[in-house]
Amino acid sequence: MKNELKLISGAMVMLALSTSALVVIPYLQVHDVKPSPGLKPYTSAELRGREVYIASGCVYCHSQQPRPKEMAPDFARGWGRATVAGDYAYDDPHLLGTSRTGPDLMNIGVRQPSEDWQLGHLYQPRAYVPGSTMPAFPFLFERKARADKEDRVLELPPSAAPAGQVVVARPEALDLVRYLQSLNRSTPVLAAPADPAASGATR
Ligand code: HEC
Repeated sequence: MKNELKLISGAMVMLALSTSALVVIPYLQVHDVKPSPGLKPYTSAELRGREVYIASGCVYCHSQQPRPKEMAPDFARGWGRATVAGDYAYDDPHLLGTSRTGPDLMNIGVRQPSEDWQLGHLYQPRAYVPGSTMPAFPFLFERKARADKEDRVLELPPSAAPAGQVVVARPEALDLVRYLQSLNRSTPVLAAPADPAASGATR
């Protein structure tokens, strides 16, 4: 009986330790994090676009977490400063991602704000980046003989434009591009010291 008691209490201690390390401590660290300065909540269109991003599996190839300069050359790649917890205040669920088959997208709205480019690239990535391994997303678009008045017609490079037809963006594509355009975590998160000399900076 003594051994069973030891076993059970040992198991309870392990459970308590791992619960506090994996649940309680992380919760205490981030539960009251404020949004980063200047960060706005997503609009309804951006939130719909976020759903399309999730449903289309973009997160399997694209991360949203530029790393600090000491860890990786993400800043030099043009992906932006390292993110902090407040950058994700409106992200539920967050889309950090685990794989980078394509570039990090946390600041794609800064890097590539053009709606034409984003729509065309989603329709046919290889028309813009030869040899790209990103899949095309043709189901976000419609091919038609003639555009209607309210249609958003794509300006495609000749290699991707279907002969005798126009390609128009479905609402899902427009929402997705709104979301991509909203991805901007470029505002500084730490206030610059008022007096550089006082902070010991030598410049
Ligand atoms: C199978 C992996 C894969 C998937 C899935 C994928 N991408 Fe990509 N993506 C890439 C690769 C590789 C590149 C780099 C080549 C290029 O620009 O086409 C890229 C590039 C991009 C770029 C340009 C980035 C830059 O810095 O110029 C954007 C924007 C983008 N993807 C958005 C998306 C969106 C939105 C989705 C989901 C609808 C998606 N991707 C799904 C692999 C992927």
